[in-house]
Amino acid sequence: MRLTLTAVALAFAAAPVLAQDAPTGDAAAGAKVFNKCQTCHMVVAPDGTVLAGKAGKTGPNLYGINGRPAASYPDFAYGDGLKELGAAGEVWNEADFLQYVADPTKFIKTKTGDTKAKGKMTFKLPNEKEAHDVWAFLNSLAPAPAAAEAAPAADAAAAPAADAAPAAEPAAEGAATTNP
Ligand code: HEC
Repeated sequence: MRLTLTAVALAFAAAPVLAQDAPTGDAAAGAKVFNKCQTCHMVVAPDGTVLAGKAGKTGPNLYGINGRPAASYPDFAYGDGLKELGAAGEVWNEADFLQYVADPTKFIKTKTGDTKAKGKMTFKLPNEKEAHDVWAFLNSLAPAPAAAEAAPAADAAAAPAADAAPAAEPAAEGAATTNP
């Protein structure tokens, strides 16, 4: 029996390169979760278009929250804790958002190291899936500055890797034919 060496070109599928802040949740499900937020929050585009919510003004506009510095929405009276965090350079990303909505005051305390700090957001969303989904929903309504910048870089990194896979095939076949 003659063994035929089959050249197997191992195409290493390029691991999906996610922009650092690409949301991981389900935006459609998140739209329903936002019902819990809209008593206090709206999502309003810079041109004034209401993208989500009705008239909630207890909390700040959540438009473009991804990549937005904490406590930075103009004309909103934030609590001292969140203002302190914003001044310290806190910028909203998915991981911090998840922790924040699960327990806003605890997040502020942990991040500032100030055990007396308090958050003005009294609502808690402990369900992590819902938090992921509502983050995805908020992201779907606005381009995230951080993600928008990261995306082209991620594409550039992924493209050469994908191109390299077919190029490996002819070389592998050549190696197989040298075997009589
Ligand atoms: C009962 C009212 C209320 C509800 C309900 C509520 N929030 Fe808030 N939210 C607030 C208030 C008030 C603040 C400002 C907190 C502060 O100044 O400490 C805030 C702040 C925030 C911030 C920080 C914004 C910034 O500019 O730094 C995020 C993010 C946020 N809320 C997300 C949510 C999400 C998501 C939901 C729904 C799952 C939600 N909130 C539900 C009242 C609410």
